[in-house]
Amino acid sequence: MESPDSPNVAVEIEKGPIGVFDSGIGGLTVVAALQQLLPAEQIFYIGDTARVPYGGKSRRTIERYSVEIAGLLLAEQAKLIVVACNTASALAVPRLKQLFNLPVQGVIDPGAAAAVRSTRNGRIGVIGTRATIASHAYEQAIHALAPDARVFAEPCPVLVPLIEEAWFEDAITDQVLRRYLDPLLTEGIDTLVLGCTHYPLLREAISRAAGEAVTLVDSAHNCALAVNEILKSQSLAAPERQLGSLQVALTDASEGFLRVAEEALELEIGDIQLRAVQAAG
Ligand code: DGL
Repeated sequence: MESPDSPNVAVEIEKGPIGVFDSGIGGLTVVAALQQLLPAEQIFYIGDTARVPYGGKSRRTIERYSVEIAGLLLAEQAKLIVVACNTASALAVPRLKQLFNLPVQGVIDPGAAAAVRSTRNGRIGVIGTRATIASHAYEQAIHALAPDARVFAEPCPVLVPLIEEAWFEDAITDQVLRRYLDPLLTEGIDTLVLGCTHYPLLREAISRAAGEAVTLVDSAHNCALAVNEILKSQSLAAPERQLGSLQVALTDASEGFLRVAEEALELEIGDIQLRAVQAAG
């Protein structure tokens, strides 16, 4: 395999898949949006299930893990890398762009742009992992577009385990959501960014807890739109008549949650490949 620290890895860009990575399974919400918008594309997804969660780890570790996982996508001749993980997008995209000579699309900017388009009162809530919220990446991206917007952010570390247990409709989940969302609702938000790729799987319960007056925004569809723009502007799109495909690899067996996500997102995932991560340089 190429070292992920090699800055100029030659790839057959016109034939390669869109490479998508996440710390685990949650990034499949972005894959579902990509497949819907870009049905001719081949997608290679890798989830770092051996090291998930990234959300409580330091910038240094998240950067290192992201570089190593992106290196696996380069070995698959990916023509573009989608960072389908809010935590890695918040903390590692600059490092990936510095190291790899191919387009890198994260989920923060598309989510922030959608929130700015959605809000009417300029009061936006953001929920995500501890690392994402502590990075202030959403605040920065929102303020770059709407300097007067007020952003209220809340780390929600308990949500990922609840989602991985598939407790989508459960009194405990509703209680946890109320505890996390009440402070944001008190601030009068009218838009809530689901700043973690797991959260779209909990959309209905979040919507119930947030109430009808709050619009939920997730990055998945908006990230797919951004990917489409890159493919078009850099002449990287697959021929329209090509039949798209999805390959999924994990760094450790994690069938349970994978099958939950497959069903909830109506994805067709065949055999799962296992990949070992190589430590970056
Ligand atoms: N995929 C991560 C995110 O979107 C959540 C899971 C984790 O903590 O690694 O932030």
